[in-house]
Amino acid sequence: MRYITFALAKGRLAKKAMAMLEEIGITCEEMKDEKTRKLIFVNEELKLKFFLSKASDVPTYVEYGAADIGVVGKDTILEEGRPLFEVLDLGFGKCDMCVCGPESAKKYLEHNELIRVASKYPNIAKDYFYNKKLQTVEIVKLNGSVELAPIVGLAEVIVDIVETGTTLKENGLQVLEKICPLSARMVVNQVSFKMEQERIQKIITDLKELTKEKEGN
Ligand code: PRP
Repeated sequence: MRYITFALAKGRLAKKAMAMLEEIGITCEEMKDEKTRKLIFVNEELKLKFFLSKASDVPTYVEYGAADIGVVGKDTILEEGRPLFEVLDLGFGKCDMCVCGPESAKKYLEHNELIRVASKYPNIAKDYFYNKKLQTVEIVKLNGSVELAPIVGLAEVIVDIVETGTTLKENGLQVLEKICPLSARMVVNQVSFKMEQERIQKIITDLKELTKEKEGN
């Protein structure tokens, strides 16, 4: 039996995903050691491997088959746009992708003005403005703390993730338009899905049952 390899977006997503997998009997003891510097973890009995990577790299590992299964946010899946099978909404990490800015920026969106849009997600921003709103804008890529952009005058609006809305509120900004809901998803390499269908399908089915149970509670 060959190993099935999981790539998990490191941080909160990976922790929650491992907790869910544990509930369906998939565990990895050596991953629980917080001090370890190991990069790859193995469950010999179940013939599974796990590794953590930067969220934006998870779709790359899965597309090339270096990982068979990935757990990553829908934001990253949309931004990366890679050919993968998205097989399951894991139901956690829920938030929204939004256009945000000060109230005074509303008029630029209503009148389709040529504005600057700052985002960590230039592809999502481009798709939204060019293909959905048919508004020509200039997109500026940033790597974090995107809320700064409209405050210091780099851009009129931003495209960013809103979870609780606290960051916006504390900086005098608001949601101007909602783009789409986001959450953690499971993705599968297209070849692995066919070659290891039975084992992968069992994991999906068990997780589906679990998410249904959780929604029911
Ligand atoms: C994300 C996002 C917002 C914030 C939203 O940032 O980019 O800044 O969380 O959360 P809230 O609505 O609950 O306030 P993250 O913490 O990932 O860091 P970043 O600024 O480096 O993107």
